[in-house]
Amino acid sequence: MNGCWDYGPLGVELLANIKNEWWKSLTYREDIEGIDASILMHPKVWEASGHIENFTDPMVDCKECKARFRADQLEDAMCGNKAFKGRKASKCMEEGKFTEARQFNLMFKTFMGPVEDSGAEVFLRPETAQGIFVNFLNVQSSSRQKPPFGIAQIGKAFRNEINTKNFLFRTREFEQMEMQFFVNPSEDKKWFDYWKEIRMNWFRSFGMNPEKLRFHDHDKDELAHYAKEAVDIEYQFPFGWGEMEGIHNRTDFDLSRHQEFSGKSLKYFDESTKEKYLPYIIETSAGASRSFMAFLVDAYYEEEVKGEQRVVLRFHPKLAPVKAAIFPLVKKDGMPEVGRKIEADLRNSLKVFYDDKGAVGRRYRRQDEAGTPYCITVDTQTMEDDTVTVRERDSMEQERVSISKITGYILNKIHTA
Ligand code: GAP
Repeated sequence: MNGCWDYGPLGVELLANIKNEWWKSLTYREDIEGIDASILMHPKVWEASGHIENFTDPMVDCKECKARFRADQLEDAMCGNKAFKGRKASKCMEEGKFTEARQFNLMFKTFMGPVEDSGAEVFLRPETAQGIFVNFLNVQSSSRQKPPFGIAQIGKAFRNEINTKNFLFRTREFEQMEMQFFVNPSEDKKWFDYWKEIRMNWFRSFGMNPEKLRFHDHDKDELAHYAKEAVDIEYQFPFGWGEMEGIHNRTDFDLSRHQEFSGKSLKYFDESTKEKYLPYIIETSAGASRSFMAFLVDAYYEEEVKGEQRVVLRFHPKLAPVKAAIFPLVKKDGMPEVGRKIEADLRNSLKVFYDDKGAVGRRYRRQDEAGTPYCITVDTQTMEDDTVTVRERDSMEQERVSISKITGYILNKIHTA
């Protein structure tokens, strides 16, 4: 089972925070609505979208070891036969062990209803975008939006990738965060450039190293079947530069195809200009799981502190899985009770962690490794003046804050970070 991953207790928080920040940055605008469309859609949708015809990779099989490879990625692939350990697949190619290249459709199939025949065949969506296109007029008319406006969605997508690799980079099940912005065709360039900047700035605003971010413009021969212009936002992963997000000018390709296959007009009528037209679509399509991986590796630091190694994840406070940890210095003298009270108060609005085990230095290190931005310590002074120590993860500086102000203090720190 390659290409399917489970997220643990901290991972699921980080992923949820990334998705939540994306959702807020787009759907809290007045010109973007959110939806949640179904994963299984009518098979005609995938004919209209061009996925049945075009969503394929060239594939070859080795007649000897039966392994399957992408014909255009043979350079890096290794032979699947254990007896030939360390042998490159390209060598088998030279020796004529491969079948001719065949086109392999990347969509997963299943059957709807009790009968497993071709008439009941449906597909798991390979992108969330199509759920937005088919709902375009429903959303437009019910929300009374006018172009330029957008529809956003976060959800799972499935691709039967031939070769999965690089951890979360290429998986068979992943999550996308997609937004389709519907514009008057005469304004497509303006909005393409606008979204390109907004999306790059989004990654930067969460502290991603700007030197590890770049645009990659698609040449004409790289463009997907639906795109007039496309640019990727790439991150420099440990294995090299890779796409995190694509921004595409999809023209009226999708709406015109869905109009044709459904027999229903998807044209928008502009009351003010009396113009009737099919909007062009500027798409921003980010991988939630790929962004997750980029935020994770970008945050990872190893450093030396007082002769000891410290591993720290410098997550932006808004993305950090746990926002604050509460430590009573010792398990006596009333400190645990005060700590528990602070914890209960913070828990109303934040994911926090209470820890009273072991040396406080150890507890700090554990939180550094999880990327927790603030640690609150209840100590002897607390029992005298009702203040606690707040230690900041990156600078390791400490400040004394009164207990009555602690929740507001932490919330404000996260909010303004
Ligand atoms: N609706 C347009 C679309 O789906 P795409 O470039 O095929 O475009 C968009 O995919 C984003 O989805 C990519 O930038 C990437 O972040 C993510 N993605 C695509 N395939 C993926 C895979 N196999 N594993 C993880 N993420 C993937």
